[in-house]
Amino acid sequence: MGKYYIMANNHLTQWHRAYIKNAYRELEQGTTRKQLDALNIKATGKNVLDVGCGPGNHLVILSKHSPKLLVGVDIDERFLTIGRSRMGKLIRPSSTKPSLINASLPTLPFADKSFDLVTCFLVMPHVPDDKEALSELARVLKIGGTLAISGHGLGFPLRYLKRFRIKPLQMYLASIIYRLTGKKIIRNTLQNDKKICRILKNIGLTVDVLRHNKRVLGCVSTYWIGATKMDTKSETNPKATQ
Ligand SMILES: C[S@@+](CC[C@H](N)C(=O)[O-])C[C@H]1O[C@@H](n2cnc3c(N)ncnc32)[C@H](O)[C@@H]1O
Repeated sequence: MGKYYIMANNHLTQWHRAYIKNAYRELEQGTTRKQLDALNIKATGKNVLDVGCGPGNHLVILSKHSPKLLVGVDIDERFLTIGRSRMGKLIRPSSTKPSLINASLPTLPFADKSFDLVTCFLVMPHVPDDKEALSELARVLKIGGTLAISGHGLGFPLRYLKRFRIKPLQMYLASIIYRLTGKKIIRNTLQNDKKICRILKNIGLTVDVLRHNKRVLGCVSTYWIGATKMDTKSETNPKATQ
């Protein structure tokens, strides 16, 4: 039977089950909280959106900050179904309860400037077009709001060459095709974090934090970026005046 066989229970593939297990293990071990802390993320009293929320692992931490509004969106209803049940058990009644919506980048069902904080972790490898996706995330962000994203660099597949063999090669192939054609025909592209920072700057955000985990053969494995949406009319950094 193939790796991605369909399960009878909610049609979860083997990949979904492995991802959910790992995401909730990282949540228990405190890794997820540390990632948000490293980006200096503060959600208290804010309107917060997590795009590509998967099974809701980051939403569990964000709910503890007591945001005013907490919304998670994902293209995959299976993750949302699992998220609703897992989060229900972990989020205390006194914390902000997240709403989960089935939607996808680059078409979010929200008005311009709706959120103070938009997070989008490990979704960039899957979106059809990097600039289009980042522009949509910026569109729903208020002036002075924070965008936090993460994704994989060229070093990521090198960590898994031995274990997965074909998948890392598929990631490099997907990235080459995207670079040559501008189209993500296969999922799982890799990004150059500096290029992502340049796109952010071009669409009116300033990068406040850029972090990497360990490099493999000098190449970034996973990058995290925290950026602020500028008021492009007055060119002032709202954070600088606080
Ligand atoms: C690698 S998982 C990351 C989940 C979670 N953000 C985390 O960091 O653990 C990628 C998630 O993005 C979702 N996704 C992929 N393409 C998407 C798109 N175009 N719009 C919204 N979600 C998307 C997938 O369904 C999946 O839940």
